[in-house]
Amino acid sequence: MKYLSRTKKSFYAGKVVIVRLDLNVAPEELRSSVRIERSLPILRLVRDAGCRVVILSHRARPDARQEQTKKPSPASSLQPLGAVLGHRLKTKIVFDASFDLRALPARAHALAPGELMLLENIRLWPEEGKNDASFAKKLAAIGDLYVNDAFAVSHRAQASVDAITRYVPSYVGLEFEREIRALDAAIKKPKRPLVLVLGGVKISDKVGVLKNFWRRADAVLVGGGVANTFLAAQGKPIGTSVFEKNAEKIIAPFLGSKKIHLPSDVVMGGEAIFDIGEQTAQEYARRIKKAGTVVWNGPMGYIEKKRYRAGTFAIARACAKSRAACVVGGGETTSFFLSHRIGAKNVFLSTGGGAMLDYLAGKKLPGIQALKRSHRRMQ
Ligand code: 3PG
Repeated sequence: MKYLSRTKKSFYAGKVVIVRLDLNVAPEELRSSVRIERSLPILRLVRDAGCRVVILSHRARPDARQEQTKKPSPASSLQPLGAVLGHRLKTKIVFDASFDLRALPARAHALAPGELMLLENIRLWPEEGKNDASFAKKLAAIGDLYVNDAFAVSHRAQASVDAITRYVPSYVGLEFEREIRALDAAIKKPKRPLVLVLGGVKISDKVGVLKNFWRRADAVLVGGGVANTFLAAQGKPIGTSVFEKNAEKIIAPFLGSKKIHLPSDVVMGGEAIFDIGEQTAQEYARRIKKAGTVVWNGPMGYIEKKRYRAGTFAIARACAKSRAACVVGGGETTSFFLSHRIGAKNVFLSTGGGAMLDYLAGKKLPGIQALKRSHRRMQ
């Protein structure tokens, strides 16, 4: 792949650069989001190189009506993101909701050096989801080169992620590169012991990671609804707790293994389990303290409610205090670190949800394959 970090500035300075970002943040994350933070370095780099910058992103999943009318809902419009990015970068960002693909190349070239333009949600084009070639070609015609800094959407074969790379020289962005390095380090050369922490609601989303890490991991610490699913399969009473139905087959190969650690005590809210208990949190924290590598996806409890956050908090603190290289993913888990201001050099917050899980599961991601193909064509 061609990395922008290793490309001479003189090569792209002054050019029209299309930057694909993942600005898919919920309204409550507008003030603080890993995805916003991690979008800033690439924008600063190309802005300061005097590029004319065109930003593409999606937000949420617009329905057919929004697609037809090209009118997003407040939760799917990128306009507020333009304001946030402009404020953070102290740069005015032109917002373009014209959907006029014929006029956009001229508009982009008419930008002043270092000026940025953000296009409205790319998913308002049905062609985006279909990875449509002629649409991708028109998008590519907007700029001289394309930089993908949207690791979090690289598991989608969509036009602005995949097909576009056929029509314009394509580069890996700065944060995309960091993501791959951090995840590869955990997969390919983890320092031991390697501890996998799985929480959140569903095991079916994470079973690919569990399978891929099963041999490599020294311990798997389980919390959240995933733990309830395991406990239910063991025939333990879980009351009205959230768990995944019909998951017995999925978890059967792992059930009963010594590698799997389930909560020994829990916090109840009425009849339901809402968090791991104190003893469990301490036990998990002890294992994290001794770990060389930690891979974590999904909260330990019902963290929307303050009183059920202690388990997740204990695990997050343990990661930050440990010497292990920790890779943390999933929107809820990474937001937890940000909102509780838990940060440390050894903790890498992935922007990816599904993309991180697919990558860790060993799957080939369309966005990465596209950048590889594009590199071969450019040689
Ligand atoms: C995500 O939130 O995981 C990415 O932005 C991709 O969004 P999607 O799941 O709607 O494709």
